Amino acid sequence: MRCWRLDDGRQTLVLGSDRDHLAEIIYWGPRLPDAEDLTTLFSAHAIDVTGGMLDANPELSICPEATRSFPGQPGLILRAGDGTPLLPKFCFEKAEQGDDQLELRFVDAANGLTYTAHFSIDPATHMIVAQATLEAAKPVHLHWLSAPVFPGPQLSDDMIDVAGRWCGEFQLNRTPWSPGMRYRENRTGRTGHEHFPGLILPCRGATNTRGHAYAFHYGWSGGHRMVAEELPDGRRQIQFGHAARVESAPATRFETAPLYAVFSDDGINGCAVAFQRHLRDRIVQFPDPARPRPVHYNCWEAVYFDHSLPTLKDIATRAATLGAERFVLDDGWFGNRDDDTRALSDWEVDARKYPDGLAPLIAHVHGLGMSFGLWFEPEMINPDSDIHRAHPDWALGGEDQILGRNQKALNMGCADVRDFLFDRIAAILETQAIDYIKWDHNRVLPTPDAAQTRGSYALIDRLRAAFPMVEIESCASGGGRIDFGILSRTHRVWLSDSNDALERLKMQHNAAIFLPMAVTGSHVGPRKCHTSGRTLDIRFRAWVAAQRHMGFEMDPRELTEEETAVLTEVTAWWKANRDWMFDADILRLDSPDRAVIAEQQLAQGGARFVVFAGKAAVSDQIAPRPLRLTRLSPDAQYRIDLINRGDAGPLSRGAPALKSGPITLSGAYLMNHGLILPWSFPESMWVIEGTLV
Ligand code: DGJ
Repeated sequence: MRCWRLDDGRQTLVLGSDRDHLAEIIYWGPRLPDAEDLTTLFSAHAIDVTGGMLDANPELSICPEATRSFPGQPGLILRAGDGTPLLPKFCFEKAEQGDDQLELRFVDAANGLTYTAHFSIDPATHMIVAQATLEAAKPVHLHWLSAPVFPGPQLSDDMIDVAGRWCGEFQLNRTPWSPGMRYRENRTGRTGHEHFPGLILPCRGATNTRGHAYAFHYGWSGGHRMVAEELPDGRRQIQFGHAARVESAPATRFETAPLYAVFSDDGINGCAVAFQRHLRDRIVQFPDPARPRPVHYNCWEAVYFDHSLPTLKDIATRAATLGAERFVLDDGWFGNRDDDTRALSDWEVDARKYPDGLAPLIAHVHGLGMSFGLWFEPEMINPDSDIHRAHPDWALGGEDQILGRNQKALNMGCADVRDFLFDRIAAILETQAIDYIKWDHNRVLPTPDAAQTRGSYALIDRLRAAFPMVEIESCASGGGRIDFGILSRTHRVWLSDSNDALERLKMQHNAAIFLPMAVTGSHVGPRKCHTSGRTLDIRFRAWVAAQRHMGFEMDPRELTEEETAVLTEVTAWWKANRDWMFDADILRLDSPDRAVIAEQQLAQGGARFVVFAGKAAVSDQIAPRPLRLTRLSPDAQYRIDLINRGDAGPLSRGAPALKSGPITLSGAYLMNHGLILPWSFPESMWVIEGTLV
């Protein structure tokens, strides 16, 4: 019997392999003592056998094998090159353990297969990263390969996964555990609004701030498959991998994307903080980490395809006055792109709109002290485009396919296509001072194909190598391509096409389980939201954007004097606070009022924080309930300041202390009783600063 363990300060992962079988995770949870005897642990882990069962329980291994009578979904399904189904049975070959790393290799000599699982644990972020590789002596057809399989906790009643839609990303779904499986498979070929690849398993009684919780994220942009299965014997397994059957050709090597897994002993926030930190500190590669996140202005909802140089200059001037530091020219600048029916892939500046190229606009933007960003949608092509007319074979899918936003996807597995895109994009980046690309992807694929995702990654990687100072925003009709795979090569996500602050408040709250402020774009939209028709007050719109990487997207010419003043002030607040908020932990608060969606952004070291308490609806009860804070030092005193107390309306008639000035309270009080905020209208936000005294 062989056992291995990986530890960080708060969790231990133990794997064991007996009789040379594939290893299984025999323990994952709070840290075990160093002296724990792993061999005893292995025997203690074995479950009994009774009537109506096999004479021993097949192991729930890191890649369950059908050949070992495993009563659930196997971790690997494949066929030989000639199509014959293969039934692998692996045998231990070797283990290599380094600092915080473990690699296990198993061989199936009869079928010429090698399976390797790699685990690492990050002592600072508490993230476990697991990845599986399959090698074959002769080309094989892969149907399904799971990243190393984890056990699901038994003291968990529900699983939470993530669904969504255009303008409504990051909706959390709760499903009770029951015998059988919850199977999610994304066959759209991109991460998708509907399928963010994440899973949260709270143990019984866990909340945002308390209890045990486990969480997973699969870092891949081509569509994933998740199996959360309760076996007939009660054990539970979690599998994540690429969607099934997305490898279109036989090959001798396949690998999964990294599976990120974390255990938390302080609620779902423990998982959220691990994901936020790991993504920001280990995955995203900012070209200049010291550069503060610039306030964005994006012109999409101001002008759409109607580009006119004088108008854009005017808008840019106004945006800069409000506090913008980067101007992003969105769709409509190339080819004859007057609407969304044409010109995608004709990546040359439209001389009708820009007779002297982009240089005059860029010079104007630079003159205002802003940097310049440009929109592309590289992987797409309109049938009505010069490039489609020249290379119809570059597009994926048949002539009779259903178009998406009037467009087809380009075949990113084709080197000629990638070269063409590299050359066209490089030609623009080489000649213009552009420090940012908004990289869009507005349709699903006609059929999912892993080669497409690998091709997209290769193009982005090549561009990044050639233009290392250019940041990239991942957008796909809003949040259709958000995952740690794309974020290892990009720097910001466009969370949603909804600039409706109420919808955003909800989405940002849920997305914070996985995404830090530093990468989550959030813009102040038009007074009357273009995607919901809702009219929202500028204060609410501004503060919701200030929760994340702030920007504007409305036409600044629509702003009244009062709106201009509010927006300028909130933007100045954001700039004054963004440095510490960049690496603050976003902690979702357990709000006793269902109408209040609240979070606490806690600075590294804990000396300061800001609470954003958004009122998403009218409360059921008449008076505000206290909002409990989290992760403070119980014995410390904090100066609490309701910084936008001036927003209290006439129906807030009483005199809660926070309305008249800062107060000082202990961490114990704030965490156990909570703050009573003034009464407020729905669609408003209280902003509370806390400072360690
Ligand atoms: C979809 C994006 O999500 C929008 O922000 C905008 O860039 C449009 N595409 C442009 O076509």
